[in-house]
Amino acid sequence: MRRLRSRLAVVFVLAAVVLTAACSSNTRPLYDPQALPSGPVGESIRLGHDIMQDTPKYLPRNVVADMSCAACHVGVGTVKRGGSLVGLYGRFPQWNKRSKRVIMLQDRIGECFLYSMNGTPPAYSSKAMIAIASYIAYLSRDVPGGAPQPKDDGFIVPLPSASPDVKHGGDLYAQKCAACHQANGAGVHGSFPPLWGAASFNAGAGMAHIDRMTGFVRFNMPQNAPGSLSLEDAYDISAWVLTHPRPTFNKARLIAPAPQPASYF
Ligand code: HEC
Ligand code: HEC
Repeated sequence: MRRLRSRLAVVFVLAAVVLTAACSSNTRPLYDPQALPSGPVGESIRLGHDIMQDTPKYLPRNVVADMSCAACHVGVGTVKRGGSLVGLYGRFPQWNKRSKRVIMLQDRIGECFLYSMNGTPPAYSSKAMIAIASYIAYLSRDVPGGAPQPKDDGFIVPLPSASPDVKHGGDLYAQKCAACHQANGAGVHGSFPPLWGAASFNAGAGMAHIDRMTGFVRFNMPQNAPGSLSLEDAYDISAWVLTHPRPTFNKARLIAPAPQPASYF
């Protein structure tokens, strides 16, 4: 009898272990620095995450805008409708409308350096570029290769059919955005990214398009109450933000970054 009871206890303990493992695999965070693969690949993933979180610190020579990748890829690319990068890795190679050629992930990362960061991409075979790609590959680890982005993951939505009320947008900006991004749109260095002006993304960036900014703002801003704005209000505010000046993109800077020599080539 006693033996049976102890066997039952073992079975219960095992069942509990299996159940906990099953549950935790569903709720496992997308990025946990404690749970990375050990060794150099894990280090590369960690570096990629850290670069995207604090880009000017790691790549001061590649960034002109006063912001990090995570300014627009909320939660360092882990948040649905917040510039999520989950599953992206398996969607390359892909056709690129802007450059009219097939591109790889590094080329797409390079575009955000050129336009969103108003800067210069690191070399394709550099430690930094490979680290960013490693991190995006890691975020994509549970998504089958080539799977399209789920509909509820992106932030680009159809715009309202009426034209935006820019003046109303300005009033809402003062109420709902200026506390963090400041009345002059310059943000606060290190805390709140700029929305226009010399330190912002340039006019070639995705975020400079009204559909993209409206969707981003609709789902992610104000940062202390995301989702609280109607689509119309997000549209009016974005139209107002985009009436302000920002750096232009000089096409002469479109030069392919040189490969970085490595001892194994
Ligand atoms: C100013 C905002 C902003 C910043 C800063 C920014 N991005 Fe982006 N990024 C976007 C937007 C908007 C898109 C979607 C663009 C589109 O669909 O036209 C995007 C798309 C991407 C994509 C492709 C995603 C997809 O689903 O196809 C990658 C990869 C990417 N960004 C990486 C980066 C990296 C790496 C950095 C930092 C070096 C960065 N981004 C900085 C706004 C930004
Ligand atoms: C509580 C502070 C806060 C408020 C209020 C706020 N933001 Fe943001 N905003 C942030 C932070 C922080 C980020 C960086 C992304 C993140 O961490 O969520 C950001 C990112 C952004 C970005 C993308 C990065 C960039 O600089 O272009 C845009 C666009 C934006 N906010 C627009 C708005 C608009 C429009 C409003 C008003 C509706 C607003 N924000 C209100 C804090 C705030």
